[in-house]
Parts: sequence; structure tokens; C-alpha cells
Amino acid sequence: MRLLSSLILIGGIFLSAMSFAAGPKIGLLMSDLRLERWQKDRDLFTEAAEALGATVYAQSANGDATTQISQIENMISRGVDVLVIVPENGEVLGNVIAEAKSEGIKVLAYDRLIKFAEIDLYVSFDNVRVGEMQAEAIISKTPKGKYFLIGGSPTDNNAKMFREGQMNILQPAIDAGDITVVGDQWATGWSAEAALNIMENGLTANANKIDAVVASNDGTAGGAIQALATQGLAGKVAISGQDADLAAVRRIVAGTQTMTVYKPISNLAKTSAELAVKLAKSEKINTNGTVENGKVDVPAVLLAPIAVFKDNIDATIIADGFHSHDAVYQK
Ligand code: GAL
Repeated sequence: MRLLSSLILIGGIFLSAMSFAAGPKIGLLMSDLRLERWQKDRDLFTEAAEALGATVYAQSANGDATTQISQIENMISRGVDVLVIVPENGEVLGNVIAEAKSEGIKVLAYDRLIKFAEIDLYVSFDNVRVGEMQAEAIISKTPKGKYFLIGGSPTDNNAKMFREGQMNILQPAIDAGDITVVGDQWATGWSAEAALNIMENGLTANANKIDAVVASNDGTAGGAIQALATQGLAGKVAISGQDADLAAVRRIVAGTQTMTVYKPISNLAKTSAELAVKLAKSEKINTNGTVENGKVDVPAVLLAPIAVFKDNIDATIIADGFHSHDAVYQK
């Protein structure tokens, strides 16, 4: 009896080891792991996919679109079943994705849309809504005055969607003459340093007369706030962000950043992991929209973003365990 149950046990372990090895292989291609949020995405995605029996191979292009293309090629030759891609440049992957498709590999665009390519699925947040939340927050704090806009990477489709959302809110106030846009620049590679330079130049060109800044994420907000601080303006000029980066949440507590947009990344990562595994198994996928990418109507799953100010940090970011209370308040 004991021998029999041991054999069954060993058989079970063997079988589960077999099924593990036989599980889907997923290539996770990240645009740039130097930014805080993407490290969370990688870790959460990998954990969730591996819990479902998949094997994940993750790589970062460190902000270089050509590197990303060779990394995708490399994944194709490794024989992955699914490519999960955060595109560095969403407009240049058509050929390499056509190659993947001809090998029967499924493609999921993670957080950022891939354009002009036959992808299977797009999982992200409602990015136009993100931009609206940023502009709504700034306009309610500073309803009139001189506005400076800092966009994200010009090669990231999300950056364009954030701007679309921002303009949905700003345009009526511009038309009414309540606000004037005195500068509009895009930070290459979402770089904080680029945003710092943009803000320094913007302040000089406007003799420091800037009342509000609509920055598209926390990294660029951080760069801009550094420039504002040098002129004694940090905390006096309303400024938005996005990603709930720890440094940004601390700035909100300190009063130098007005808000951030918190996107529960664990939902994005877990949903994408589940759906990537389903894609690998050709199972049915429930979506809540479609997005046209210049080639096909891509089935999409879009999650809801959350606007965060000083007074709801505890109820959102901390309650979710995204950052700890002690980390935020530096206890
Ligand atoms: C966007 C993303 C934002 C932000 C930015 C910089 O595509 O949606 O959350 O992280 O990239 O990496």
C-alpha cells in the first residue's frame, strides 16, 4: 500500500513536472526596465503566468527599438507560443510580427498598442481617460492661467492617447480664454532628464510665469518639479503625473505634485498572464472593446485607471499594497 501510494506520488510529481515543461512558453518583451513601473509589471506578470504553468522569458530593450526587434526575433527562434510585447516604438514592429504570425505565434500588446500589425489582443487601461483625469485635476486646482504641457515619448501610442484625453478637457477652457498653452513639448523616451530640460527652457522663455503643468507621467513630472524647485516654484505650480511611482506619491504627500494616476498594475499583469496562456491554448477570450490599429480591429481588454490625490492615497495605493504606508510616509 505504502509502495503503491509512493508510486502514485512519484507519478504525480513526474506528471506535473511533465505538464510544467509542456506548458506554454511566453516571451515577455519590455521596452525599458529602467522605469519603476515596468519592473512591477515584469515581476507580477511572470509570477502569474508561471502559476498557470507557463514559462516566461523576459527581456528589456532599454529604450531601443532596434534592440527590441532583435529580441523578438530571438524569441521566435526559441519557439515561444506567445509574444507579450510592451513596444518601445509601436509603429515599427509590423515585419517582425508578420514573421511571428507565420510561425503560428500569438501576439499580445501589453499596455501600449502595436500599430500596423496583425496582433491578437491588446490589454491596457483606458488611456484617453488617464489624460482626462490629469487635465481635470489640474484645471480644478488652477482654472485659469498659463499652462505648459509635457507629453511622453513620441513613439509611444499611449502618449498620444494621454494627450487626446488632456485636450478633451483643456480645449473648452482654451476656447473660453481661461487658459493659455504657453508650451507643448514631448519628452523623448519618457526621460525625466528631458522633462527637466524642457521645463527649465519653458520657465526661462516665460519669465517663470507658468501656473500649471500637465505632465503625462510621474517620471516627467519629477524632472519638471526639479526645474520648478530651482526657481522656488515647487508646490506653487499645479502638476499632474501617472503611475503612482513611490517618489511621486511622496511628492504628493509633500505637496510638490498635485496628483498621479494609479493604474492597478497587478490587474493588468494578471489579466494579461491569464489571457496569454489562453491564447497559447487557443481558448476563447472575453474582451470589452476593440481598437483599430491601422491594420486590424484588435480585440481589447481595457481596465479602469484611478486618480490619486493626497487625500485618497491611503484608500487606493496603500490599501492595495502597491506601496506600504511606511514607504509612502517614510516612517
Ligand atoms: C506608458 C505607460 C505609462 C508610463 C509610460 C512610461 O506607455 O502607459 O504608464 O509608464 O509609458 O513608461
